[in-house]
Amino acid sequence: MAKHEELPVPVFSSLEPVYGEGSLLEEAELRFSQLKSKFLQVFGHPPDVFARSPGRVNLIGEHIDYEGYSVLPMAIRQDTIVAIRKHKEGETDKLLKIANVNDKYTTCTYPADPDQEIDLKNHKWGHYFICGYKGYYEYAKSKGVNVGEPVGLDVLVDGTVPTGSGLSSSAAFVCSSTIAIMAAFGVNFPKKEIAQVTCDCEQHIGTQSGGMDQAISVMAKNGFAELIDFNPIRATDVQLPAGGTFVIAHSLAESQKAVTAAINYNNRVVECRLAAIVLGIKLGMKPQEAISKVKTLSDVEGLCVQFAGGRGSNDPGLAVKEFLKEEPYTAEEVEKITETDLPSILCDNPTSLDVLKAAKHFKLHQRAAHVYSEAVRVYAFKDAVASSLSEEEKLKKLGDLMNESHYSCSVLYECSCPELEEVVKVCRDSGALGARLTGAGWGGCAVALVKESIVPQFILDLKEQFYQSRINRGVINKNQLGLYVFASKPSSGAAIIKL
Ligand code: GLA
Repeated sequence: MAKHEELPVPVFSSLEPVYGEGSLLEEAELRFSQLKSKFLQVFGHPPDVFARSPGRVNLIGEHIDYEGYSVLPMAIRQDTIVAIRKHKEGETDKLLKIANVNDKYTTCTYPADPDQEIDLKNHKWGHYFICGYKGYYEYAKSKGVNVGEPVGLDVLVDGTVPTGSGLSSSAAFVCSSTIAIMAAFGVNFPKKEIAQVTCDCEQHIGTQSGGMDQAISVMAKNGFAELIDFNPIRATDVQLPAGGTFVIAHSLAESQKAVTAAINYNNRVVECRLAAIVLGIKLGMKPQEAISKVKTLSDVEGLCVQFAGGRGSNDPGLAVKEFLKEEPYTAEEVEKITETDLPSILCDNPTSLDVLKAAKHFKLHQRAAHVYSEAVRVYAFKDAVASSLSEEEKLKKLGDLMNESHYSCSVLYECSCPELEEVVKVCRDSGALGARLTGAGWGGCAVALVKESIVPQFILDLKEQFYQSRINRGVINKNQLGLYVFASKPSSGAAIIKL
C-alpha cells in the first residue's frame, strides 16, 4: 500500500470525511452553504470546487525545521476554505479576484501573470494566495504539465484559524489556495510534493520558514499528531496518550511573522546559518568550503558529534560550548573567522540582507544550543509516547519536555514575550503538566498538556487568572473567549471538496 504522504490530496463529495459528525459537521455545513451563496452573490457564478487546509499546533520542536530537524505538530479543527472558479474560454478579464467572507479583508485583485513579483513593502492579505498561485505554476511547469495561457480566477476565502496566533493561519491559507488552484486546473499531486511546494512558495512572502506548517496542514490524519521529517518530507503517525489533552491559550499579543521577519524570524535563520559556518570552520573546514557547503546546523552536526566522541559523548552541544562564545558576536568578529564579509555570505537571499541591515550582533552560542537540544527533545517526546511507561509517567515526561522546550525558546532563542511568559505560568499554576509557546513565538499562543479530567476547571482557571482582566479592559469580548482558549484534538489534513 502506498504511504499516505505518497497519495494525492483526497477528493470528497461530502463533508463527513473531513469534519466527522455532530456539531463540527453542522457548523461546516453552514459555512459551506454560506460560502456558496456568497460566491454566487459576489461573482455571479457558483464555485467549481472547494479546498480546505487546517491550522496546526506544534507540540514540540520549535525553530528547528529550517535547520533540517524533525518536529511534532498536530492539525487543529480551525481551517481555511477556499472556493474557486476558473474563468472559461471567452471570458476576457484576466484577473485574480480574491474576496473574503470576513468584511475586515477587502477584495484584492491581481493580474493573472504567474511571474508577477509580490509587493513585500505593501503587505496585503491576498499576497498569500499569490504565493500559492506562483507555486502552482512553478511546480506544474517543472512536472511538465501544460499550464496554457493564464486565465482569470474568482476566489472566496473563509478562514477560522486566528491570524497572528502562531497556529499557522498563513500556511492554512497558502495550502488551501494552492490546492484549490490545482483542483480548478484539474491536477493533483502526492501530498509530500504539495507540502514541499507550499513550503517553498510561502517564502515569496519574505519569511525563510521551514516546512512544518505546510507539511502538517497537507498531511495530517484525524486522531494523530505527526512526526515530520525533512529532506525528504515524511510524516509518521504519533498516537498521543488518551488521558492527556492539549489546551491552546492565546497570549493576546499578535505575532506578525512576516512583518517583523528582519528582526525576529529571519534573524534567527541567519544566526543559525552563521553559527553553523563558524562551527564548521572551527571543526576543520576551510572558510570557503564552509560558506559554500554549510547552510544549517544539521549540516555540521556530524562534525560536532565527532568532536564530542573524543570526549566520550555524542552531544553536538559540546562543540557549541567549546567553540562558540556566549557573548554576542559582532559582524566583524564573524567576518574575521569566515574571512569573508557577511553580505557576500548571505547574498543568496535578499531577506537575509535585510537581517544584516537590522542586526547589531549575533548570538551564535545560544541559538545553536537551542537547536541541538530541541532536536533531541522531539525524539525524547516521540519515544516517551511509544514507551512502556505508565500513562501517568508518560504524561509527566511529555509535560517536562514541553517545559524544557519553553525554557530553551524563551532564554536561548529569545522568541517569547511577556504575555506568553504570563500565560505559560498561569497554565502551569493551574495544573498543566507542561506548557510552552507554540509556533514562531513573539506573541500568539501557548499549548498546555492537561489531564483530560481537569480540562473544564483548567479553562475556567485560565479565564479567571489571565483573560478576565483583559475582558475588563476591553481587549477581548467575553463572548469570544472560546476563540482564544480551547482544547484541541488532532484533526484531519487538507482536502478537495466537490459538492
Ligand atoms: C513558523 C514557521 C515554521 C517553524 C515555526 C517555528 O511557524 O512557519 O516553519 O519554523 O515558525 O517552529
